[in-house]
Amino acid sequence: MDRYAVIGNPIGHSKSPRIHAAFAAQTGQQLRYDALRAPLDGFVATALDFRDGGGRGLNVTVPFKLEAFALADRRTPRAEAAGAVNTLAFGADGILGDNTDGAGILRDITVNLGCPIAGKRVLLLGAGGAARGTVLPLLDAAPAELVVANRTAAKAVDLAAAFATPGRLAPTGCGFAALAGRRFDVVINATSASLADAAPDLPPGLYAPGSLAYDMMYGKGDTPFLAAARAQGAARLADGLGMLVEQAAESFALWRGVRPDTAPVLTALRADL
Ligand code: ATR
Repeated sequence: MDRYAVIGNPIGHSKSPRIHAAFAAQTGQQLRYDALRAPLDGFVATALDFRDGGGRGLNVTVPFKLEAFALADRRTPRAEAAGAVNTLAFGADGILGDNTDGAGILRDITVNLGCPIAGKRVLLLGAGGAARGTVLPLLDAAPAELVVANRTAAKAVDLAAAFATPGRLAPTGCGFAALAGRRFDVVINATSASLADAAPDLPPGLYAPGSLAYDMMYGKGDTPFLAAARAQGAARLADGLGMLVEQAAESFALWRGVRPDTAPVLTALRADL
């Protein structure tokens, strides 16, 4: 049976084995998908052992996405843009590195939530790896504007500048205070503030009528960011569980050439949160 796994550290609570088992059952694909805990100094050895034992592909999670980027012999343009790899495919012609996180969030927002990005004023919060992977897919979706804002303003300015391409919309970067008086239709939290049970310290009044607040983190009930967005009048709230399932579907499609139906899998995961 073809073998796949998610590799990370820690990995105990990963939902990926359950998600991919559901995709395999639904599409009639014969495969096995496990969770692999690599030592912090042993990502490459663990990944190559898995491949040499017949493994066909890996999903890569914290803290190994940069090492996975380096391990790949070839990378997709979206992995190059993200500067990180969350999906490895082992083939006769070497190791392909892809990044499906950005496509996952875009699909969750535009398809699952029915919220087009085209023509919208979009605010992306954060300037780490999670934010970086989202910039190109957002630009490809043709927003009216894209502002990247970060607690450390200089990192947002640098990230925005890295995506300035002649002839297309250039993102702008700033600190949180510089957002005062501005309004957005879509606000995406790509900071890790929720991990510390905190929300980014944003000025009030950012949410335009009908706006969507989207947190890449997820959990039972509102995350701190979503609670703050609710209090600020965001019309719609969504957490990152849909992104998790969509990035998995994108990886599955890369490996197996079949796109699973994500809706029933997302519903089942939501019920068990
Ligand atoms: P990831 O790979 O999840 O993006 P990261 O690269 O460590 O993780 O980036 C974390 C991001 O969350 C950064 O943008 C960080 O802001 P700083 O650059 O100012 O450190 C942001 N972040 C973390 N905690 C935060 C908090 N309490 N409020 C606002 N932003 C926070």
